[in-house]
Amino acid sequence: MARPGSLWVVGTGIQLMGQVTLETESALRDATKVLYVVTDPVTKGWLADLNPSAEDLIDLYGEGKQRIETYHQMVDRILECVRAGEDVCAAFYGHPGVFVYPGHEAVRRAREEGYRAGMLPGVSAEDCLFADLGIDPGATGCQSFEATDFLVYRRRFDEHVPLVLWQISCIGQLTHETETSIRGLELLAAHLTQAYSAEHEAIVYEAARYPITAPLMARVAVADLPRAPVSGISTLVVLPARPALADRTMVEQLGLSDSYVLRKAQRAIPETARA
Ligand SMILES: C[S@@+](CC[C@H](N)C(=O)[O-])C[C@H]1O[C@@H](n2cnc3c(N)ncnc32)[C@H](O)[C@@H]1O
Repeated sequence: MARPGSLWVVGTGIQLMGQVTLETESALRDATKVLYVVTDPVTKGWLADLNPSAEDLIDLYGEGKQRIETYHQMVDRILECVRAGEDVCAAFYGHPGVFVYPGHEAVRRAREEGYRAGMLPGVSAEDCLFADLGIDPGATGCQSFEATDFLVYRRRFDEHVPLVLWQISCIGQLTHETETSIRGLELLAAHLTQAYSAEHEAIVYEAARYPITAPLMARVAVADLPRAPVSGISTLVVLPARPALADRTMVEQLGLSDSYVLRKAQRAIPETARA
């Protein structure tokens, strides 16, 4: 039998409370202890109204402090509450399992220690990006990488498919910094210009965090990335320059018609790239 104490890890979405799902709202309301990492004051106030036990973990971040140390402290605090027999709901902005090490780690450790634990999906920055930039991953696929990982491991990618790069403001930085790493952007620009032309356009994207503001979609030549308006919430999207060529043998072996290939070519470049 599971021990007393449980954990739900949930996401509050990117834009205020409008992107909180009904199941997440109910998990937050029913918890005996809420812990959260969200960035805007309105969501903080909403969480405190919904559940008076709500505790902010954001202060565990510190300028120049190793991010991994902060993440372990978050997990430790979450587990401390679970072990005390609380029904804990830990909320992170966006999707709680997308680029949220402490979200996954807290669930893993709670289960390992014999507690009931799970994660509920939320609306991530990439979900907003698909909507705002008109990208359908079903059209050609979509590649998504953490920017430092992308460079360090020379991840293989297909320049005919949209390329999404996360955490472009802190490339190579393992500590929490408010300043964007220009050196990191220089190295990213140099790497991308090996696959694309220097003038090839990318989009620095920031989903709107408030219903009254518009998303940022700043077009920038890949070579100019070090001078682009990049902040801690920017995600980079490199759109394909041209459709891939179909493998004619495979088209025939699968019994597909030319109209399939034509339709795919028409959908290969999102409208945003043409605008
Ligand atoms: C630690 S991750 C958190 C991701 C979040 N859990 C999610 O589901 O979107 C931080 C990165 O998410 C992306 N991000 C966060 N907020 C964003 C926004 N408003 N618009 C675009 N990208 C965002 C950026 O790439 C940023 O470096």
